[in-house]
Amino acid sequence: MVILEVRNIDKRFPGVMALKDVSLAIERGEIRGLIGPNGSGKTTLIRTIMGFYRQDRGEIVYEGDNIVDEEIWNRVNKGLSLTYQNPLYVAGLSIFRHIELGTIAKRLPTQKIMEIAREVGLEDKIDDDPSELPVLSAKRLEIAKALATSPKILMLDEIFAGLSFEEGEQMIDMLKTLNKEKNLTILLIDHNLRMVKKMVKRTTVIDMGEIIAEGSFEEIIEDEKVRKAYIG
Ligand SMILES: Nc1ncnc2c1ncn2[C@@H]1O[C@H](COP(=O)(O)OP(=O)(O)O)[C@@H](O)[C@H]1O
Ligand SMILES: [Mg+2]
Repeated sequence: MVILEVRNIDKRFPGVMALKDVSLAIERGEIRGLIGPNGSGKTTLIRTIMGFYRQDRGEIVYEGDNIVDEEIWNRVNKGLSLTYQNPLYVAGLSIFRHIELGTIAKRLPTQKIMEIAREVGLEDKIDDDPSELPVLSAKRLEIAKALATSPKILMLDEIFAGLSFEEGEQMIDMLKTLNKEKNLTILLIDHNLRMVKKMVKRTTVIDMGEIIAEGSFEEIIEDEKVRKAYIG
């Protein structure tokens, strides 16, 4: 069953068509890859899905409803979430407070915050200052903040960036567990296939604002347009 469908989305910024007739359907419980070179429109797409940007054309259908006129907070309450490429921390606030603030709209019980911290492997560091965290833990915190809103879909923006190979493997294990145990649907964004291909059955490829391919790893690496986008 499809949980999220993007239909014919256009998004224009001054001087650039960031998304051109983008359509995409994600199944409930799926881990989908979304790859594309820098500037291809990946972040714009998930921000448009969240309602941070207003599309110029098209529909976003979530659990059967067109949500294009919904406020960001309604979309969050319905179960959409994302992580940011460059997280910001509030100086002097602990990891516990940052997870708690992930929700803003409603206060979470301590037990729930600790459960999320455990799910992402930060329970031993809960009182630490996040600005001192090594990069893998910082990524764990970004996921914890998204989990604080009890999402059904988690859209991860370049979560593997800056991680070593081993750290990437740990991230994959954690995401696979979240996917399995919570039936969490995941949209995994990256600029290359290296880590994504270990987690997904299907990958969508975007280039210059357009979807150019979709399929299994084997299918997309054979695709002429994909090779061109990556090799030039
Ligand atoms: N807020 C914005 N204002 C103007 N142009 C933007 C904005 N965000 C992205 N762009 C432009 O839209 C295109 C797609 O960017 P982006 O979605 O960030 O790509 P990606 O995440 O794939 O690297 C780029 O040409 C970028 O310069
Ligand atoms: Mg981006």
